[in-house]
Amino acid sequence: RRFREGWEHRRDVTSLSRRQLPCPDPNRAAHFMNQADSDWTQLATRTQLDEAIANWSPALPPEAEDLDATLETAVAAGARWSAESISHRAEILRHAAEVMQEHRFESIAEMQQTAKKAIAEADAEVSEAIDFARYYAEHFPQHPGIASQALGVVVITPPWNFPYAIPCGGVLAALMAGNAVLLKPAPETTDIAWRLVQQLWEAGVPRDVLQFYPCADGETGKRLITDPRVSAVVLTGAYQTARMFQSWRPSLRLYAETSGKNALVITAQADRELAVKDLVQSAFRHAGQKCSAASLAIIEAEVYDDPIFQRQLLDAAASLQVGPSTDRTSVVTPVIREPEPNLLRALTQLEVGESWLLRPQPSADDPCLWSPGIRLGVKPGSWFHKTECFGPVLGLMRAENLDQAIAWQNDVDFGLTAGIHTLDRREQEQWTESVQAGNLYVNRPTTGAIVQRQPFGGWKKSSIGPGSKAGGPNYVSLFARWSDEQTDT
Ligand code: SER
Repeated sequence: RRFREGWEHRRDVTSLSRRQLPCPDPNRAAHFMNQADSDWTQLATRTQLDEAIANWSPALPPEAEDLDATLETAVAAGARWSAESISHRAEILRHAAEVMQEHRFESIAEMQQTAKKAIAEADAEVSEAIDFARYYAEHFPQHPGIASQALGVVVITPPWNFPYAIPCGGVLAALMAGNAVLLKPAPETTDIAWRLVQQLWEAGVPRDVLQFYPCADGETGKRLITDPRVSAVVLTGAYQTARMFQSWRPSLRLYAETSGKNALVITAQADRELAVKDLVQSAFRHAGQKCSAASLAIIEAEVYDDPIFQRQLLDAAASLQVGPSTDRTSVVTPVIREPEPNLLRALTQLEVGESWLLRPQPSADDPCLWSPGIRLGVKPGSWFHKTECFGPVLGLMRAENLDQAIAWQNDVDFGLTAGIHTLDRREQEQWTESVQAGNLYVNRPTTGAIVQRQPFGGWKKSSIGPGSKAGGPNYVSLFARWSDEQTDT
């Protein structure tokens, strides 16, 4: 029990000072790379990628089968799968890593087309999925004297913003622990999830052990979540969705990573140029649609008031190439759908006392494509301070000192990622001790957690469930029942 709970709300701190960076271009420094990174800028790789993009056609996923039959199949398959040896399941996961590598370019092409991801983002996502496979293959926990058994049938409901890596991580962790899995894809990115399932089948995961269930979110989704044959649900999505699942089925074993309102603090002791680079990356890559994205920068007055800092930030954001994901030079790509009310408000309306450092502009050709926006003068307690907007808008807050910055950073309902830029070790320590978020990053972007190095998961309203983190040492064990468990759901 202590093993299970010991990790609850554990905060992972990744600290890099500039002195530690081993190569002149921090973007490509090993610290920032997935362990399975490809380098698509290499000529040979680019040729394969070009071919995959030229040959891309929609994946055409099937319709969902009858729910009752699907669950019957899953229950029977789960019993068989859990009886397989751990080493057999691990071997299939390792093979899955190879198969995903073989299909890397078609997966990237699919994400570029349907998830509107820039190539660099899609490439990193395939790498993360491969990292999950390799890592979970080695991390089924062996507890001397404590028996475990699989939960049974696990439903994975991933988001559209990481449509390959996040479902892959959930599916493989549940499979590794011996469960049957139903993958219910996000409606926006059904194609890429279908490709993933086919790749995992190719790697040797039996088709009845992993089933694809592309149902609508409404009534069928509710039937799925509430069916007693489903033992656990993994959700990555909105906090309200997690609460809705709980209201449908109060006893549900739910592991949810939910919303965020993440901030990066920049103190007077920061390396300002590095801070600008990391802030722009955290705020605007994937058009600000990462749950880990920095939506706020809380900046100490001396830096905030520095016209050179403001100019650098403006220039850095304004220089990002804005365009469709199919153009390989694009960095800021379209948002997944036309902006919903919160995002539209963030892109178009200022609060009292705010002004634009950089006003976001819609594209004339695509209502989903917006250039980056930076709001100056965001006030503590204001709408933008508190509200998740999920798009390419960053708000700047001017703090008198670090204490105030930390107080504002914590004064939100969520706690997914948090960052600080300071070269002062005492400031790093003070911040690390007091900030309330699942993943803490010092002198690096708030996005791009790397499997094993930065297990990923939230705190406060950013997480519902036991708090174990994806890509961390205790994640697979979430999908097993332990012999010392008191209650059952
Ligand atoms: N794991 C992703 C990141 O760290 C977010 O889901 O950016």
